[in-house]
Amino acid sequence: MPVHTFSTPAPAAVLCGVAGWVPPRVVTNDELAERLDTDDTWIRTRTGIRRRHVAEPGQATSDLAVEAGRLALRNAGFDPAGTDSVGTDPVDAVIVTTTTPDRPCPATAPAVAARLGLGRAAAFDVGAVCTGFVYGLATAAGLIASRVATRVLLIGADTYSTIVDPLDRANAIIFGDGAGAVVLRAGHADEPGAVGHFDLGSDGTHEDLIMIAAGGSRRRSAAGEPTRAERHFAMRGNEVYRHAVTRMAESARATLAGAGWKADDVDHFVPHQANLRILHSVADDLGLPRERCVANVDAVGNTGAASIPLALADTAARSAIRPGDRLLLTAFGGGLTWGSCLLTWPELPPPAAPHDPLVPHDTREDTPS
Ligand code: UT7
Repeated sequence: MPVHTFSTPAPAAVLCGVAGWVPPRVVTNDELAERLDTDDTWIRTRTGIRRRHVAEPGQATSDLAVEAGRLALRNAGFDPAGTDSVGTDPVDAVIVTTTTPDRPCPATAPAVAARLGLGRAAAFDVGAVCTGFVYGLATAAGLIASRVATRVLLIGADTYSTIVDPLDRANAIIFGDGAGAVVLRAGHADEPGAVGHFDLGSDGTHEDLIMIAAGGSRRRSAAGEPTRAERHFAMRGNEVYRHAVTRMAESARATLAGAGWKADDVDHFVPHQANLRILHSVADDLGLPRERCVANVDAVGNTGAASIPLALADTAARSAIRPGDRLLLTAFGGGLTWGSCLLTWPELPPPAAPHDPLVPHDTREDTPS
């Protein structure tokens, strides 16, 4: 990849493609209730989730990432199997953000790039749990601003079904599998699609709130085999909930202040789809009408690093975002980590819908306060 010399002004990262993909298999709340001590009403009223998509045995994160990446490249007008209309490689960097890489080593992104036919593109993973997509956007924007890359494919993909204990009712009900992707190109800070005004943060003193204890060097360097609990994803949901509401609202506010926007300037608030109650609390805290809060958690659950791009793709597929609309993206996840950024929606062809729409229903009992 060529390294260029610097000059001003630095190019901005501009969104030019979006897509989402979920594995076809749907797991409803009722299906979970057949094997867990839970029920549809509890899940809907506590989380807003009605169903989630789950990978088949043998299906890995890269399989989902490749599907979303291919669709996003197509949405951007590139042919992932060959070259684009200007005769160059479609992208010169691929970033996969995930908590569930195919393997601890190597990173998942190089294999995804190879399967998409992206030649010698730089490829690496970013890990920030459910904040991964916003961290990935900042990383991609940095590559573009420094002229290391002119076009970047950023994919958020997770298969939580491979790390959540299926017998852990608190977590098994929340998570779903999926992937979402965006293509970013070098452009101008004032054009539609420009990504900017980031706020990123972390607080590692609370690393124990969301964790897989085994699998890494910490547990491997200790004596004895890991227990079942240590091998699976663990989350202290109630404490995480409180942090999520506070940190997301703070981050969103800091980002708006940095850009000189008021909450009322936001047409679509696109939060990490953690739990509908969390999304609504943050929107309320910011003084944003709940109708401006993009939510697809009912149909896909919490899909980790995939959740924001999947929500974007879902909304774009329904043509619910118009060119020129102003978006605030805010995420929160393990680490703890959090982050926000702003973007103005560009002119894009609507991507394919990532999943079938939910059957219309009476939402009164689904809408927890
Ligand atoms: O993506 C990263 C960020 N993640 C999040 O932001 C997730 C944040 N946390 C949450 O979304 C919620 O805390 C949960 C959905 C995980 C749990 O909801 P909650 O309202 O905080 O429930 P809780 O943990 O306070 O538990 C309340 C009760 C407990 O029973 P007791 O002790 O009151 O008798 C739990 O054992 O609900 C019980 N419970 C369940 N009951 C039925 C926990 N899970 C279930 C379940 N079905 N699936």
